Amino acid sequence: MKPISIHFEYQRYDSYTELQELAQRLLLAAKDAMHRAYAPYSQFHVGAAILLENNSIVEGNNQENAAYPSGLCAERVAIFSVGANFPNQTIQAIAITASSANYIAGEPVTPCGACRQSMLEYELKQGKPIAVYLLSPSNEVIVIPSVSQLLPLHFDASNLRKG
Ligand code: THU
Repeated sequence: MKPISIHFEYQRYDSYTELQELAQRLLLAAKDAMHRAYAPYSQFHVGAAILLENNSIVEGNNQENAAYPSGLCAERVAIFSVGANFPNQTIQAIAITASSANYIAGEPVTPCGACRQSMLEYELKQGKPIAVYLLSPSNEVIVIPSVSQLLPLHFDASNLRKG
């Protein structure tokens, strides 16, 4: 038996105003997208904004459905939109924020497991880290330098190869 530990470091900012202008712009875009979420069933509004290598921003938000599992999280709406429309653009970062009448303004919301897996696919495809910025309702920010840190011991394309 050999114990193995995984070290994980990220940054925390008391306010998004401490970040560089481009990162602030990305976080505000996520907030903007959050306000356009279609979440009539959960009332939980999530916004995501993706920064491409040319500094343009692609937004997404959660899209719910009366047949509940047919809906999709904000992060996947945004990253699939990039995959569909800008497949050759490297992704620099994704910003995520959420709000709900029932959600206590505390810690920033972190992406669900399925979204982590989806984001990781694009990080591995481009061979460059995608930074994750999480904004809380009280404007605190967590910055995780790479999606892979959010999914240790992950499953990926290499597991599908023969031999
Ligand atoms: N949701 C997201 O959009 N992103 C997350 O990271 C967590 C959950 C959405 C899915 C659903 O529309 C609502 O939030 C409640 O789960």
